[in-house]
Formats: sequence, structure tokens, C-alpha cells
Amino acid sequence: MLNKTKTHIEEVARFHSDKADEIEAFRIKYLSKKGGIVTDLFAAFKDVPAEDKKEFGQVLNQLKDAVSAKIEELKANLKSGDTKPEGLDMTLPADGAFMGSRHPVSLVMNEISEIFTRLGYTISEGPEIEDDWHVFSALNFPPEHPARDMQDTFFIERNPEILLRTHTSSVQVRVMDGAKPPIRTISPGRVFRNEAISARAHCIFHQLEGLYIDENVSFADLKQTLLYFAEEFFGKGTQIRLRPSFFPFTEPSAEMDVSCTLCGGKGCNVCKHSGWLEVLGCGMVDPNVLQNCGIDSEKYTGFAFGLGMERLAMLKYGVHDLRLFFENDLRFLRQFR
Ligand code: PHE
Repeated sequence: MLNKTKTHIEEVARFHSDKADEIEAFRIKYLSKKGGIVTDLFAAFKDVPAEDKKEFGQVLNQLKDAVSAKIEELKANLKSGDTKPEGLDMTLPADGAFMGSRHPVSLVMNEISEIFTRLGYTISEGPEIEDDWHVFSALNFPPEHPARDMQDTFFIERNPEILLRTHTSSVQVRVMDGAKPPIRTISPGRVFRNEAISARAHCIFHQLEGLYIDENVSFADLKQTLLYFAEEFFGKGTQIRLRPSFFPFTEPSAEMDVSCTLCGGKGCNVCKHSGWLEVLGCGMVDPNVLQNCGIDSEKYTGFAFGLGMERLAMLKYGVHDLRLFFENDLRFLRQFR
């Protein structure tokens, strides 16, 4: 019986399984109250001659402990096996999550939008595929105006009525149409012009145009609004200068320059030694435009302005080639994190 018990100890040591039902069968085989090997051996203990009892007792306890330890060990393996497949080292450091960044044009758009929403402007959007009325006719473009020309405008399927908008003034026409002033809105968005692609021009770019219509809106209001914008966007102390210009939809019209953001007006390569940078077009909304949109031009006046967002991003971040904004080169984009 002693030898049999020792054989069982060896058997137990050799046993291995990673299956729960096999481990349970092993437990029953040895420890079951009815017919378990260990149970039966304990029952037989009383018949062992007194002089052998000590040794047999020790070996029997050894067997019992070995069985319990084996069951515990195998069950522990089972549990951790659920979460730790072989060959996977849970102590390795994790890969860092890849963080994206906002596109510089989006950064500029968000910043300008914030500046004008602080002044009470709403943000309006409109379609990129437009009709002649919203892009040109309502805005007082004469029928023979060169901006309607094939060389500037992308027409859809050679239909002169349907085209890709060349500016977001079209959105302002939609906002004005049938609305009752006061109107205070900005319209950021993508525009299209049939231009050769270069470091300074692209056939797709982004504009942000602003419109303010109410009773007694004057050129002084326009000037003050633009000065506020320039100081918020380029920094306190930035100066502005307005030069007479022409747009069909504004009268009078002006181009606005800001004091050079790099040299502060002393003259450098970026401002071509003039001390000034051209940033936007603006003017008082032409009464014809108000009438075209159903707004009483005797009662209301307004101003409008429009700027190119890539141009402002170039000035703000010191980017020298406009094409970089469209190439989605990660080495460029990652600099704006
Ligand atoms: N729409 C003009 C452009 O695309 C910009 C502009 C807007 C000028 C409003 C004056 C007033 O160039």
C-alpha cells in the first residue's frame, strides 16, 4: 500500500491539463468523498499495522497535499490564460496614440470666426455650386464684367447659369434675401477661380466675408470694426490703412493694409519694404445690391469685407508658398500642433 501511494504521488506530479473539465475529473478521481483514491487510502489507514502507521501517514499526507497543490496550480493557469495568450508580453510599453492637428486654414478660420462672434456676428454657409444670380447678378456685376469670363469662373457643363462660386459674397446674398435688418454675419468657405497654380495663387482657396446692415451704418463703423479685427488677429498696436479701390457690389470700396507683422512697418522682404501688407477688400454695400435683395436702401445702409484665409495664414505663420496648404504633407501640417 505504501508503494501504491508513492506511485500515486508520481502520477500526480506528472499530471498536466489546461482544460477545466479534465482538472475537475482529476479532482474527483483523487478527492471524491465516494471512491476517491485519497479518501479510500485514509479509510484503509486504520488497518495498517501500528509500526508502519507513522511512515504511511506521512506519505499519505504528501499525496493529499500534492493533489490539492496540483489542482490549484492548474486552475490558476486556466484563469490567467484568458487574458494572457502565449507569446504576448504584457510588460512591453504601449504605442503612443497618434495625435492629429488642425489644418492652419481651419486655425485661422476658427480664430477669425471667434473674433467676429464676440462682436455679435453669426456664421452663415451656402452652396459651393451656385447660380449666376447669387454670385454675380444680385451683386451688381454688369453682364459684360470680366469676372464672369470663362477665364475666371468654372462653369458647370458650359452652362453660364450654373458655376462654382468665385467668392462667398453669394452667401451674403442668400442671407439678405428677404431678411429684415439688422444683419450681422460672416461667411467662411471654399471658393474657386480658374487661375494658374503658383506660390501666391490657387484655383481653390478659402474666403471669409463679413456683412453688417442696419440703420445708420457708416464707413466709420467699417473702419473701427476692421481695426478691432486687425488688432485682435495680428496683435495690439497693429495699424490699418485703407486705399480706394473698386468692387461692383460696394461703393465706396477700399483695400485694407495692415502694418507689416514682421518688421512692424519699418520695411522688410515680406512687405517689399513698404511697411504694409494687403489683407482684404471692403466697402459700403452698393444700394443696388440692397434693392436686389429686397432691402430698403433708403432706410438701411451696410458694409461688407472679404479676405483670403490662406493669405492670412501665410502672414500669421510665415508660410512662403500657398500650395503647401493643399498638399497635406504631414511634415508641414505637424508644425501646427
Ligand atoms: N468678394 C470680394 C472678392 O472676392 C471681396 C470683397 C467682399 C470686397 C466684400 C468688398 C466687400 O474679392
